[in-house]
Amino acid sequence: MSNNNNEKNDNKAVAKKPVGITETILRDAHQSLIATRMPTEVMLPILDKLDKVGYHSIECWGGATFDASLRFLKEDPWERLRKIRDGLKNTKTQMLFRGQNILGYRPYADDVVYKFVEKSIANGIDIIRIFDCLNDLRNLQAAVDATNKIKKQEGRGHSQIALSYTLGDAYTLDYWASMAKKIEEMGADSICIKDMAGLLVPYKAEELVKTLKSATKLPIQLHTHYTSGVASMTYLKAVESGVDVIDCAMSPLALGTSQPATEVMVETFKGTPYDTGYDQKLLAEIADYFRPYREECLANGLLSPKVLGVNIKTLLYQVPGGMLSNMVSQLKEQHAEDKYNEVLEEIPRVRKDCGEPPLVTPSSQIVGTQAIFNVLMGERYKMATGEFKDLLRGNYGQTVKPMNEEVIKKVIPGEKRSTARSAEATGHDKPELEAIEKEMKQYKQQEEDVLSYALFPQVATDFFKYREAQQTKVDAAKADTENKAYPV
Ligand code: CO
Repeated sequence: MSNNNNEKNDNKAVAKKPVGITETILRDAHQSLIATRMPTEVMLPILDKLDKVGYHSIECWGGATFDASLRFLKEDPWERLRKIRDGLKNTKTQMLFRGQNILGYRPYADDVVYKFVEKSIANGIDIIRIFDCLNDLRNLQAAVDATNKIKKQEGRGHSQIALSYTLGDAYTLDYWASMAKKIEEMGADSICIKDMAGLLVPYKAEELVKTLKSATKLPIQLHTHYTSGVASMTYLKAVESGVDVIDCAMSPLALGTSQPATEVMVETFKGTPYDTGYDQKLLAEIADYFRPYREECLANGLLSPKVLGVNIKTLLYQVPGGMLSNMVSQLKEQHAEDKYNEVLEEIPRVRKDCGEPPLVTPSSQIVGTQAIFNVLMGERYKMATGEFKDLLRGNYGQTVKPMNEEVIKKVIPGEKRSTARSAEATGHDKPELEAIEKEMKQYKQQEEDVLSYALFPQVATDFFKYREAQQTKVDAAKADTENKAYPV
């Protein structure tokens, strides 16, 4: 009897739909857990094995990696990208891109966006995930168009628009569905739901994925963080609901503020229609490689056990984990740690006042800092940061909900407000690459240096000087051993 049943089940044709995994250990995992400090030399020896897994893609660039490479690791991020590309012969590489802000903190003119996309793909990127902190799609169009242009010319390049996931009155299923339709019209190749804070709970994920799937034919990817402790369950429900790709991190740098563990998700779907087919033995070898590095980071304090636990406050206050830790250190500096709860309660109010934006770089910092000001000054909006004023002026683009008119009157009385996309609103509506190149040409050793300088003028200049010093030193050492003399 039971045998018959089994046979029946075996014969029942279940459509196979393997779920893809984007591995984040070379980008978001170490950005979330160890302040983006993994150097290239830790990445290179394991690329060969990572390349054999069969991942949908490996995220390895963008976000804070660029800034941290130049600033703290004294590495050329472009050089890192080329080396990673060399090591990943069969796997697609992926980067994160802040819309019109590229990888920086201000909007750039379109010519800089186009050049950056062109050089990213030329140096080895396949998939560009583009997001905007307000979900203002106008701030994403240039990057999508730039990717499509290269795709036409080179046959390589995939633009993915990431919707910054957040909660609030405006963010209904209809809102997300209409955004998905617009993204399809914009010419993007796929959609990502980018849940920075781990706010998407399992049954909401089921609803959301089903809604998006019926709204668009584009592949849907889900990106979340383990911060609130629900992420693996969220992936389970999302995959059952038809999500195409999920973002995971190899176990030594998974969980906490990072992503669910790759091996765990692979095992979860084994033998189901969603089976990834990845080799657990190979994954174990990769984990063995990274485990001593994790131990080293724990020992030297780079990895704090604090970020590894479950932070349920992210669900209560809907605030990303990274924002909470920033807030604690800002309050410490002001000797006002006792105001922690007051600030936590002020954050949602400030967010409502400025049009209820998602909280992701840079809106998270802008709202968080303003909330601290409001509490510490003892009067709301007695003082406002320049960035908060810019947000009210419309310089970052449009928010989904209208802003609080009373707050606008108090913070930027009588000022003109913009309704344009961010590049126009801030006067970056004409080409600016040529002027930038002129400014830095004494340091230029490759075309990509112009872009590094465009994004981080001071940090890049320091790096260029360091690089020059290293190059002279290397030459000097060479001359010393070979010719027994220093070059003049
Ligand atoms: Co992330």
